[in-house]
Amino acid sequence: MSVPFVDMNRLHEPNRDELLAAFARVLDSGGFVQGHEVEAFEREFALAYGVRHALAVSNGTTALHLALLANGIGPGDEVITVANTFIATVEAISMVGATPVFADIDYQTMLMDPTDVERRITARTRAIIPVHLYGRVCDMPAIMDLARRFNLKVIEDACQAHGATDFGERAGTFGESGCFSFYPTKNLGTVGEGGMVITNDDTIAERVAMLRNHGQSERHVHVEPGFNYRISELQAAALRVFVPHLERWNEHRARVAAWYQEALGSSGLTLPANGPAGAHVYHLYVARHADRDALMRHLSAAGVGAAIHYPTPIHLQPAYHSAGGGPGSLPITEHACSEIVSLPMHPTMSRAEVDEVASSVRAFNESRQWAASAAGGGA
Ligand SMILES: Cc1ncc(COP(=O)(O)O)c(C=O)c1O
Repeated sequence: MSVPFVDMNRLHEPNRDELLAAFARVLDSGGFVQGHEVEAFEREFALAYGVRHALAVSNGTTALHLALLANGIGPGDEVITVANTFIATVEAISMVGATPVFADIDYQTMLMDPTDVERRITARTRAIIPVHLYGRVCDMPAIMDLARRFNLKVIEDACQAHGATDFGERAGTFGESGCFSFYPTKNLGTVGEGGMVITNDDTIAERVAMLRNHGQSERHVHVEPGFNYRISELQAAALRVFVPHLERWNEHRARVAAWYQEALGSSGLTLPANGPAGAHVYHLYVARHADRDALMRHLSAAGVGAAIHYPTPIHLQPAYHSAGGGPGSLPITEHACSEIVSLPMHPTMSRAEVDEVASSVRAFNESRQWAASAAGGGA
C-alpha cells in the first residue's frame, strides 16, 4: 500500500456539495472581491480567536508583510526570527526594507530559542517574529518577556498553527499581530490562496485594511501607496465551509500523532516533542534520524510520501547569504536540518496508513542493524 504525504481529494470529498453551493452563492451574488463572504469570514475568524480584528488578505506572505508595515517596521530596523522556517517569514522582513537577524532554535522543539534571541538583540532591534513551525506553539511567555523588557513588537507567524493553544492562549494572539496562511495544505486551507492578520489593536487593523486595498481610506481617497492584497470571495466562501471542521481535523491530526508514537516507539526515529495537549496541531509530523537521506530513499522506494521541511535553513539559501553568519553560525538549526524528515500527516489519515509507514521505517532500521552486524561479523 502506498501512503500519500497529504490527500486533498479525501479531505474535500465530504464537503463537495457544500463547497459547490458556496461557489454558486458567490457566482449569483455578482461580487467577487472583498465583499460579503470576506466580511462574514473575518467576523467568524475573529470570534473563534477572541480578537477584535481579523483582516483577510491574499496569502500568508502578504499577511506578514502588512503586519510588519502596520507595526511600523521599516528600513534600518532589525527583526529577529529563525532560519528554520519557510522562506516567506524572512521575505516579509526584506519586503519592508528591514534586516532579518536569525536566532538559533531549541533542539527538542526545533522552534525559536528565546535565550539565543536575547543574545542577538541590538539597539536597532524592533521586532521578533516567532514561527509556530510544524503546528507547535513557541515558548511565548519567554518571548513576550523579552519583548516587554526590550520594547519590541511581536508579530507571530502562525501560518502552520491554526488552532494551536498553549500557555492558555492561541498561537497568533500573544503579540501585536498574528499571521495565517490558508494555502490548501495548511490545517485550515482554501482551494487557492488566502491569508489573515489578527490583532486587538485598532490602529494596526486600520492600517492593514487600508494597505491591502491600495492605501484607500475611502473610495478614491488613497492616503498612502498600498497594495492589492485582497482575497477573493470564492476563497472566503470555501474557508467558511472549512472553519467548522478545523477543531475536528486538528483532533484527528493529534490522534495520528499518537498512533505514530505507539507504532514508532522503538523504530530508531526521534519523534517530535508533543508538548501539552493542544500545543501541537501537527501541521507537519517532523521526526529526526541520523541517516535521514538513506531513510528518505527507503521510504520513497516503499511508496511512502515523506518530505523535508526544510532542507536548507534560510541563512544558507543564496538569497540570504549576506544576512547571516554563513555555515556554522546557527549550529542547532543546521544540525536539525540534516536530520529532519516529515512523515505523512493529514486529517483523513487512517491507522492502517500509519502502520504501513511504521513498518517501512522499522524495515529500514532492521536492514541497517543487519548490515552493521554483518560488517562487524566480517571484521
Ligand atoms: C511558516 C510559514 N510562513 C509563511 C508562509 C507563507 O504563506 P503563503 O504561502 O500563504 O504566502 C507559510 C506558507 O507556506 C509558512 O509555512
